[in-house]
Amino acid sequence: MSLTEINKRRTFGIISHPDAGKTTLTEKLLLFGGAIQSAGAVKNNKIKKTATSDFMEIEKQRGISVATSVMAFNYKGKQINILDTPGHKDFAEDTFRTLTAVDSVILVIDVASGVEAQTERLMEVCRMRKTPVIIFINKLDRDGKESFDLLDELEEKLMIKVRPLTWPIGMGDRFKGVYNIYKEELNLFSPNKTGIADDIQSLSDLNSKELDEKIGTDAADELREEIEMIEGVYDPFDREEYLKGDIAPVFFGSAVNNFGVQELLNAFCEISPSPIGRDADTKRVEPTDDKFSGFVFKIHANLDPKHRDRIAFLRIVSGKFQRNTFYNHVRNEKKMKFPNPTSFMAQDKSVIDEAYPGDVIGLYDSGSFKIGDTLTEGEKFNFKGIPSFSPEIFMELENLDPMKNKQMNKGIKQLMDEGVAQLFIQQPGNRKIIGTVGQLQFEVISYRLEHEYGAKCRFMPKNYFKACWITSTDNEKFEQFKRAKARYIALDKDKHIVFLAETPFLLQMAEQDYPELSFHKTSEFMLEE
Ligand code: G4P
Repeated sequence: MSLTEINKRRTFGIISHPDAGKTTLTEKLLLFGGAIQSAGAVKNNKIKKTATSDFMEIEKQRGISVATSVMAFNYKGKQINILDTPGHKDFAEDTFRTLTAVDSVILVIDVASGVEAQTERLMEVCRMRKTPVIIFINKLDRDGKESFDLLDELEEKLMIKVRPLTWPIGMGDRFKGVYNIYKEELNLFSPNKTGIADDIQSLSDLNSKELDEKIGTDAADELREEIEMIEGVYDPFDREEYLKGDIAPVFFGSAVNNFGVQELLNAFCEISPSPIGRDADTKRVEPTDDKFSGFVFKIHANLDPKHRDRIAFLRIVSGKFQRNTFYNHVRNEKKMKFPNPTSFMAQDKSVIDEAYPGDVIGLYDSGSFKIGDTLTEGEKFNFKGIPSFSPEIFMELENLDPMKNKQMNKGIKQLMDEGVAQLFIQQPGNRKIIGTVGQLQFEVISYRLEHEYGAKCRFMPKNYFKACWITSTDNEKFEQFKRAKARYIALDKDKHIVFLAETPFLLQMAEQDYPELSFHKTSEFMLEE
């Protein structure tokens, strides 16, 4: 396996609370990579907060995001793969799954809003997976929280140590630029929404008079004081700690003005990990392993009903992927080859002949993939770690046209394979309980069932608070629990038992009454066994 190909790749995700500037930053990174020529070229693929019932709009946006949710470009000899994630909380599950396919993450924070709810949840997933995180504090051209306070807030709410590698000089109207602590360079700010020229000057001696001349004595003194404080309070940056996910380097800037972005990108290229291996059920697979393997972390339906094909997004873990070569679909025990695998260089989808670890490729598929599927060169193993999280909204699905039962079942199966929502089956009567993290999914489901499968449905709200996966050290107690709580027991897609708890109190009671049982809010624990 070619080490050069592996070492030059960087596959990462950009995450943020909506509106922090993820799309803007992505666009600027592409600009630096020469993947686009001017700002504004990347279509906005985010789902606006205001979209509640306009599912046509959602669908349209989903359509656009097929092209833009993976973007590859070359920069300074590296091949960089950006995996975009929807910021909208209703699509959090999609974001969590995308995070299984990246090797590191850039987290964007709005300097005025600080850490928001969605940021905390996303960070939880990064912590769980020990994903290295770089933090970009955005919108320094506006007034926001004081930098030291913000760093404290990051440490406290995100539960990770931080280490500033650049430092802002003022903010809002008084924003003069950033000092690059890491490179000992001064970068003076001039608003620039389209170009990529930053005014970077080397300035290793902060005590030189030059600094006073450039930014004024007051700002210079303040900067000196603050840098001294940083060096006193924070340990020197240690790349190994970052790679272990124990410390997050912090950068400041303004994405829309293209400021501080190049420092971020340069440091990213220098410190972020090249493709790393993944655990499978029977072994650890390293990128350097000779044989090809990969897993599907995302599936996009083709929204044109005349073309039912879908695109499965596959992250390559090891070996070399080749076009028109037979690979083993482990779950289906089936050989498959792909005549038109695509790469995602910026906005273009183009057919590729080969791809390497870290790459994400699109495979056209007529329904044989589901999220989490493993492809290998023949070996039988499955990658672990595509967790299901407990949904937050539950509805029972009712088929409005019994003559269309078959279509309904087919549609539901396909939508669940795509990961649109989670299905729990309850007895008696094989009742279908659909669980999601957001209301939007129910609209997507009923719209797609009707338009793609010709089946009409209705949803009846179920008053559940969480679905918990159960493990037990005592079989008898487990059986006893299942009998006692039969009305609240269901099976998930893998036929694992879940407890549908109606309230936090009832869950707490169950935990107290059955200490032999463990109740898990993600299915990840199963994969760790
Ligand atoms: P998201 O993908 O995280 O949801 O955020 P997005 O990039 O769309 O940015 C959200 C808003 O914040 C946009 O304004 C964008 O222009 C603005 N923004 C991004 N970076 C900066 C920055 O460094 N400084 C300032 N002041 N604003 C920034 P919008 O009004 O929602 O949209 P638009 O019409 O400007 O595109």
